[in-house]
Amino acid sequence: MTNNTPHIIKNDPWYGSYASRAEDMRASEIRALFAVASRPEVVSLAGGMPYLDFLPFDELSELVAKMLREEGSHAWQYGSAQGNAHLRERILDIVRLEHITDAQADDVVITNGSQNGLDLITRLMCDPGDVIIAEDPNYVGALGVFKSFQAEVINAHMDADGLIPESFEESIKYAIAQGKRVKFLYTVPTFHNPAGVTMSIERRTRILEIARKYHVLVVEDNPYGLLSFDNKTYPALRSMDPDNVVYLSSFSKIIAPGMRVAWMIAPPGIRQKLVLANESSILSPSNMSQMTISTYLDNFDWKKQIEEYRGMYKSRCETMDQALRTYMPYCSWNKPQGGFYIWLKIPEGLDAKAMLPRAITARVAYVSGTAFYDTGEGADHMRLSFCYPTEERIVEGIRRLSTVVDEELATAQLFGTTSTSTIPVIKPEN
Ligand SMILES: Cc1ncc(COP(=O)(O)O)c(C=O)c1O
Repeated sequence: MTNNTPHIIKNDPWYGSYASRAEDMRASEIRALFAVASRPEVVSLAGGMPYLDFLPFDELSELVAKMLREEGSHAWQYGSAQGNAHLRERILDIVRLEHITDAQADDVVITNGSQNGLDLITRLMCDPGDVIIAEDPNYVGALGVFKSFQAEVINAHMDADGLIPESFEESIKYAIAQGKRVKFLYTVPTFHNPAGVTMSIERRTRILEIARKYHVLVVEDNPYGLLSFDNKTYPALRSMDPDNVVYLSSFSKIIAPGMRVAWMIAPPGIRQKLVLANESSILSPSNMSQMTISTYLDNFDWKKQIEEYRGMYKSRCETMDQALRTYMPYCSWNKPQGGFYIWLKIPEGLDAKAMLPRAITARVAYVSGTAFYDTGEGADHMRLSFCYPTEERIVEGIRRLSTVVDEELATAQLFGTTSTSTIPVIKPEN
């Protein structure tokens, strides 16, 4: 269920023709889950989909229709590889909220989602075997990109205050001692996916110092930074060290992922190459999508909208936190201050990956911690998303999950092992 299905590979007439970099490509555990987890009877605590119902769809549709009537020849046309100048200007207003005040529109490159940005920066920086230091656990989509460029990921540890500077430095030293080239640190410093934690301000300073000391670029992936629960925004690493940081952020979580519009801010040399890489990869990001996003930004109070989202996600997070205290008090987790996820540590001896089919049978889905590692680690954790389901569904989802975990615990205590059923059979809702 979690990897490529073997029969498809066996029947593939091109099986022997793929490049070596395609060998390790497989559906992420999250993608593989999507089909089952998205059935309405399953409470999905698995995906990272934003809740979009607050968007003013009717008014927005009218404004987009007007934009297409008036500027259709531009919207339907190829665009610039760097992205539309007007949108890049508007992005400067957004990043100012995270203390990035010195950037110019020319420093910004528009991408097809941050996922595309991660692909571009890895393509630019990494030859096969080059090292990327990444947090442990790690955003699964980034792991897929790094693997596709045959980069080696060396993990650095986190705690409740985010990436631990000493661990970061140790990882650099370890790589250097192996004769490897460390190309960049990949970090999600604010409201981490999946760990939910945020890098403290003191650590931000220290991490940047270490990166400078070893001439290691910092790739700051920040799609959740504006979604804090206490109206606090953290200074982006980019705001603290413009020459050494490539910053990525996205409209996916603050407006809508369907537009596939995101951006990078990079020092001039890297920015120039990013534009060339974008051009050779996609020619140009979609004008239509960019102009739709600009229409939204130009006509609506996007700051107020973000505040509304903050309130909603905060309330969902609190509901999940409370439900966990009620139903699964024997687990542990850090209550996030923003973002979409709780990273739940389950009792020792239980295996989140093996338990997943049983959870789906009980009509609740999560992502096993193993999805966020390349090494098979992580079975002692699960990622629970509170972004999409309503509060009522969150409580019900946690209740269902607790019945599965309780049963697994009872089995483990009785036989010293957990159940290993693999075929999810979904019970009808009653
Ligand atoms: C940490 C992180 N980076 C990047 C992305 C990809 O975002 P986008 O929709 O902009 O491609 C996600 C999506 O969930 C994410 O969580």
